[in-house]
Amino acid sequence: MVVKAERAKYGAAAYKDAVGEIPTQWPRTIGPNAMKYLQEVVDSGLTCDMIGRFEEAFAKEYGVKHCIAAPGCTPALAILAAAFDFDAGDEIIVSPVTDYGTVQGLIRENYIPVFADTAPGTVNLSAETIEPCITDRTRAILVVHKTGLIADMDPINELADQHGLIVYEDACQAIFGEYKGRYAGTLSTAAGFSFDAEKTMGSDIGGCVITNDDELNDRVRFIGQSRGARMKEHFGRLHTECGYAYRMPNCTAAICLAQLEIIRDQVAHRDKMIRLLSELIGEVPGVTPLPIPDYMNVYSPWMFGMSIDPEQFTCSAEQFAQELADGGIPAPGQGKYYLMPEACTFLEENARNKVYPYSMPPASREYHYGEDTCPTAHVFLENWIRWSTFCEKYQPEHCELAAAIVREVADRNRK
Ligand SMILES: Cc1ncc(COP(=O)(O)O)c(C=O)c1O
Repeated sequence: MVVKAERAKYGAAAYKDAVGEIPTQWPRTIGPNAMKYLQEVVDSGLTCDMIGRFEEAFAKEYGVKHCIAAPGCTPALAILAAAFDFDAGDEIIVSPVTDYGTVQGLIRENYIPVFADTAPGTVNLSAETIEPCITDRTRAILVVHKTGLIADMDPINELADQHGLIVYEDACQAIFGEYKGRYAGTLSTAAGFSFDAEKTMGSDIGGCVITNDDELNDRVRFIGQSRGARMKEHFGRLHTECGYAYRMPNCTAAICLAQLEIIRDQVAHRDKMIRLLSELIGEVPGVTPLPIPDYMNVYSPWMFGMSIDPEQFTCSAEQFAQELADGGIPAPGQGKYYLMPEACTFLEENARNKVYPYSMPPASREYHYGEDTCPTAHVFLENWIRWSTFCEKYQPEHCELAAAIVREVADRNRK
């Protein structure tokens, strides 16, 4: 156990040293109507329904029936997990390379995360890697579109249909990205989004769930916002389930609404820039940007990622990333900690000690979590470098400069 280690940093504070010729998302570009909407919240004495307005606008923009605003994606996915109402010990198959926010809610519901490995050469899982993980305790598949690369959803949905499983998405990093002409987040039963300050639609904090399912919408609101309470005549609030008070604040909704008005142009620009950056960096021998599948008509990337071939360089990926930073790329680094079965050390501890829900029952078998749980993902991340400061402020000259820095570091360390 790590004792007295430095606490994790978030938001702008995590990137405060990343300054140079290549831009970062900081300070965030804020939609021109933000102050107007914030003023409305204040002037109305907190009576205006900015949350409802944001929900309606986001649902309309996304072409879905329901948007349920939340204080972040972690709580959005938590209330979704609670709304699904599976049993303790039921298994949810989930992407292994992600943020802790993907899994927090399902762990709190006493479901058991089963991490499917990634497909070779990328950061997402696939139908092929999911299939061997399906058991008679599997209830759902939670797909993350890591970096903004959309997982190949048609085969995943087909597989899920064959086994009667629910599919839902963590679309935090892929907002308004398109898979075969359909938005990431509309490719399954429901999806969670993040409007955290550093995310593509950075709005200080915030998130939401979207779905076309009326019943699920009602249940997410009941569990997530009404704290599991219904009104009983002549009595008042009756809490029939243990719910949450995960409501998005009105001021956050005001900023989210303003950001929604500028996000589409930003995503279109990010798409162009990431394709250019990938092409330029792809020309450097020994360096491979994440492949962008043909089925993605719009890549809405939150971060840029690339692999280095260890056979071709004398330095480690960690050293390579450090030299990129020294060369002027803001905050490059490795994403080893994205490997959830390795990063969530408490999972292995609980599984080993048969702490509920790993006791039998409700579990019906033994579990193990570690770097060997998803070997393809583990090996891939050993040689993977990314920077989550990639943003809509990039212009072609920034892509060229970033690629030149990568080339210089590569040539300096070539075997
Ligand atoms: C894939 C993914 N899921 C969930 C989250 C958590 O989102 P939030 O910070 O809004 O709770 C993040 C945040 O980095 C993320 O990248």
